[in-house]
Amino acid sequence: MELTKHDIATPALIVDLPVLERNLVTMAEFARTHGKQLRPHMKTHKCVPLARRQIELGAVGLCSATVPEMEVLVTSGISNVLLTSPLTSPGKIAHVATLAERCSTLMVAVDHPKQVEMYGDAMTSGARDLGVMIDLDVGDHRTGLLPGKPALELARLVADTPGLRLRGLQAYSGSSSHVEGFAQRRNHSLKVMARAIETRDLLETNGLSVPILSGGSTGTYNIDGELEGLTELQVGSYVFMDLDYQRTGGRDGSVYEDFQPALTVLTTVVSANHRSHVTLDAGVKAFATDQPFAPQARHVQGVTYEFFGDEFGRLRLDEPDREIRLGDRLEFVVPHCDPTVNLYEQMYVCRGERVEHIWPIMNRSAAVRLEASG
Ligand SMILES: Cc1ncc(COP(=O)(O)O)c(C=O)c1O
Repeated sequence: MELTKHDIATPALIVDLPVLERNLVTMAEFARTHGKQLRPHMKTHKCVPLARRQIELGAVGLCSATVPEMEVLVTSGISNVLLTSPLTSPGKIAHVATLAERCSTLMVAVDHPKQVEMYGDAMTSGARDLGVMIDLDVGDHRTGLLPGKPALELARLVADTPGLRLRGLQAYSGSSSHVEGFAQRRNHSLKVMARAIETRDLLETNGLSVPILSGGSTGTYNIDGELEGLTELQVGSYVFMDLDYQRTGGRDGSVYEDFQPALTVLTTVVSANHRSHVTLDAGVKAFATDQPFAPQARHVQGVTYEFFGDEFGRLRLDEPDREIRLGDRLEFVVPHCDPTVNLYEQMYVCRGERVEHIWPIMNRSAAVRLEASG
């Protein structure tokens, strides 16, 4: 029997398949026509079928933010994976080494000699090397070490460590990705990324091979994508988009529209006893709440969503352009896609009203198991 949106228990995560496909193809085409490799970030969707589609469309591999994300990709047959987060837990490092013994295309990011030593010690069999990227701090001060000489010294250490192979540099600038206004974003990104390009040149003039410089984000893909020295784009949010990105503004206007929102939360009106508002079955457990703005209703104007507790949302009926009744189902574009996906176990992938796929979101208990065993 055909499943439709009407059959789905709410709140539920909905993906608009034609919009998703358009987003995927647009980014893949951009990378291809600009001579860049595409290495999308798994952290946005945590979903193997979606990762497979990205590979089908030409991605060279994927990024993962965690060891379980890396593991789920590798065990699903996607072996060219870069772990973008530096690690220090011996258990996690040992686990990565076990995966790397099985597959020669794994890479990890490091930002400290101690991590290089730990990875080197873990790669004991000598059968395969683990690829290593030097994580550069190009201004976020989150992870990474300073470009220039500190990066050169760490790269030399990697190159001299048996079991490890220097693959290149990672330069992610989260502080560039959400700068409002395209011109300002461009200035910011070009300035910080220049330090990454200089560092790449420095390593190469010192005899080190730097085949990869990985960076960029959904906000800067068409800025960093113009940089000659950047070899690959590690973009994430473009698949789903969200209100946060839309508000940053695009090249041609105040709304960023290169990619369209493909992700919504489907909700039901569960109480409708007031003229001023109705109550929905989706509250702070249904949407990530890290942004200062609310989910936005799709297909209905003149209403405002407000959080109304763990399980509920209040939909203010300002000047609704249609009647909203008990039992009605409404969709909302999410403020921030990655952490919203992380709240769900599956996504309903729809074409219009029809559910074409139910895609699993990777099991978070895997991370807990790994931590316990590490
Ligand atoms: C290391 C790294 N690379 C790439 C990305 C992808 O960024 P976006 O989702 O803005 O495209 C992120 C996002 O947080 C990240 O942390």
